[in-house]
Amino acid sequence: MFLLRPPGVYRPQGDTSMLAEAVEQIGIRPGARVLDVGTGTGAIAVLAARTAVARVTAVDISLRAVLAARLNVWIHGLRQVRVLRGDLFTPVEGEVFDVILANPPYVIGKPGHPGKHSRDRAWDAGPDGRRVLDQICAQAPGHLAERGTLLIVQSALSGVQLTLSRLRESGMEPGVVASRPEPFGPVMRARAALLEARGLIAPGQRHEELVVIRADRTDAVVPLRA
Ligand SMILES: C[S@@+](CC[C@H](N)C(=O)[O-])C[C@H]1O[C@@H](n2cnc3c(N)ncnc32)[C@H](O)[C@@H]1O
Repeated sequence: MFLLRPPGVYRPQGDTSMLAEAVEQIGIRPGARVLDVGTGTGAIAVLAARTAVARVTAVDISLRAVLAARLNVWIHGLRQVRVLRGDLFTPVEGEVFDVILANPPYVIGKPGHPGKHSRDRAWDAGPDGRRVLDQICAQAPGHLAERGTLLIVQSALSGVQLTLSRLRESGMEPGVVASRPEPFGPVMRARAALLEARGLIAPGQRHEELVVIRADRTDAVVPLRA
């Protein structure tokens, strides 16, 4: 799929393709309300809008990403996609969706937040890789309609069991639907020594396991406006 990617916007890669495949497998029904959190170039939002006649909302915190996604949506002639700027679910406060899709930052990095204009913000997720994942696990269920589904991709290095248990705590029924080894790209190669020193990867290991988690809303989810 043709996508413009200005400098500083996340280049769609292995994790993007795994999420895209999972989206195709779940089969979004016509008319569904779809949210793509952390849209980057808009790759997943464009795919969702092209594979189903769905009402798609894409959100990103980065202005560059929002502009890129708007451009890509326009190039593909997808008028039913809106692209909003903001932090995770803030721009869609009070709204619910049938499907929520997320390829969030999950790379284990340094303590503290990457700067507002730092390119690292596209992938850096703090010392345990969970800064954004945990927020999504806590907030996504409240934005899902009845029988809604969340699809999220992450590295196994950032704790798959943690994601599964946090989603269960939020009243979801989660499970792993895809898993694949991915060779380290430049970002992970640069962090390999840190990961080895922390015992998170074996000496010389230069790949990580990427995982797609599907979580379905159950009746235990507390509605947005209880
Ligand atoms: C790993 S990239 C994924 C981009 C795209 N979805 C893809 O699969 O190619 C993560 C994206 O999340 C965005 N992001 C990071 N923190 C965010 C936040 N708190 N709220 C919204 N978007 C965020 C980044 O700007 C980046 O575009």
